[in-house]
Amino acid sequence: MRVLVIGSGAREHALAWCLASSGADVVALSAHANPGLGRVAKELVLGDPSSPEEATRVATSRSVAYAVIGPEAPLGAGVSDALRTSGIPVVGPSKAAARIETSKAYCRDFLARHEIPGSPRYAAAKTLEEVDAAVAGFTGPFVVKPIGLTGGKGVWVQGRDFPTPEEGALYAKRLITTGGSGVVLEERLDGEEFSLMAFVTDSGIYPMPAVLDYKRALENDGGPNTGGMGSFSQRDHLLPFLSKEMYERALDILQKAVEGVLADGMGYRGILYGGFMLTANGPYLVEFNARFGDPEALNVLSLYENGNFAELLNGVAHGKVDRTLVRFRLRSSVVKYLVPPGYGFASRPGSFVTLDEEKIEAAGARVFFADSEAAGPARFRLGTSRGIALVGEASAIHEASARVEAALGYVVGDFSVRHDIGTAADVTKRTEHMRSLIAPGAKPSPLPLSVAAADAPPSSAADPSMLI
Ligand code: AMP
Ligand code: GLY
Repeated sequence: MRVLVIGSGAREHALAWCLASSGADVVALSAHANPGLGRVAKELVLGDPSSPEEATRVATSRSVAYAVIGPEAPLGAGVSDALRTSGIPVVGPSKAAARIETSKAYCRDFLARHEIPGSPRYAAAKTLEEVDAAVAGFTGPFVVKPIGLTGGKGVWVQGRDFPTPEEGALYAKRLITTGGSGVVLEERLDGEEFSLMAFVTDSGIYPMPAVLDYKRALENDGGPNTGGMGSFSQRDHLLPFLSKEMYERALDILQKAVEGVLADGMGYRGILYGGFMLTANGPYLVEFNARFGDPEALNVLSLYENGNFAELLNGVAHGKVDRTLVRFRLRSSVVKYLVPPGYGFASRPGSFVTLDEEKIEAAGARVFFADSEAAGPARFRLGTSRGIALVGEASAIHEASARVEAALGYVVGDFSVRHDIGTAADVTKRTEHMRSLIAPGAKPSPLPLSVAAADAPPSSAADPSMLI
């Protein structure tokens, strides 16, 4: 089966790897010579992944069985619609359905219109007067977001990125006067974030393991929001602070969203990603994405179980999924991205990284390439975005993190990485934070184990990833 993968990053490398592992011949349409895509794809076509004409030309000339769209920009540019018009089945919703990701105002209006639970109070503003009115409407801290796609950047949270409502208003106004299409202001949600992705067709929704994405550029969640510095998933497919009940509530929000899309007269074949904040009042929706998350895709694809991924995605593209193909191994996984110096603030492109891939593999980690290009044997040049991802897998989260750290011993060069991702101390901190929110002022008391699944391996008392 020949499959077209559209996109240039580590998510697309992982997709291509997973597809190739299940026997597919991958054709990749990428903006640059991603070394990972170069290895696993039968053919790497350099071009614009967001060009409907180019995607259609490549798909039809190679007679692919279907296409998978990785990033949001091609969805927003109508690539899925153009492919479908040419008779190519696609994993990726239409441009119209993808508005739940591409416009934050549309997303919040959609949630309100369909009375979907878990949406914070919000107001969209296109003029300076509307900003003042929106700010006056909040009694507590709020968040300012540009309406359109910003790659996870540009969102400012009161108490972290700005101190007072007045400064939040100034930032919102600056976004408007510098040519943006408007802003959304919303109530600040306090809790711990998690991502839940599902394969979606018009007739069903098939969830994947939950993932925690580290969005801030610096350790201890300092610095600005980024596309995601790394992530972890836990072996029971929940998270240390996320119970089965809360996972199900988040899934219900995704389910209702799909029903809303269908009620609006649109179809949906692709991936739906919910970015959630688990609060003392349960999960709230921070954002939808109409695609796999990056780095989240690297966690779940590394754990995909039975070698039939090409068949599974074929089912999504054709609107008929075989549920038995949606299987992920009961292991924890940790992703850490190597990023160029200054990433998140002002990236300095052109740094070099040397990898000893044999030793990295022996240390128990896998390499996925993103914004990097080959620059000699085992040497890679980083661009301005996230460069290279290392993925470790183990029984416990902190063990998977330790594997990535061991692998980092075989990486030399000028890059930044968040070492704290998935460490015992960091996982414990998040768990304790959630506990303190659930019982404000109360001494943390043991909560029920989140490992409810009968088939989850036994937990160990020494394993901080299983604290609650
Ligand atoms: P978004 O692009 O909407 O996913 O926002 C990027 C990041 O900003 C999220 O992952 C959160 O860390 C933060 N954020 C967004 N909306 C909120 C909110 N309502 N309350 C608190 N943090 C938020
Ligand atoms: N990791 C967040 C995203 O893919 O948008």
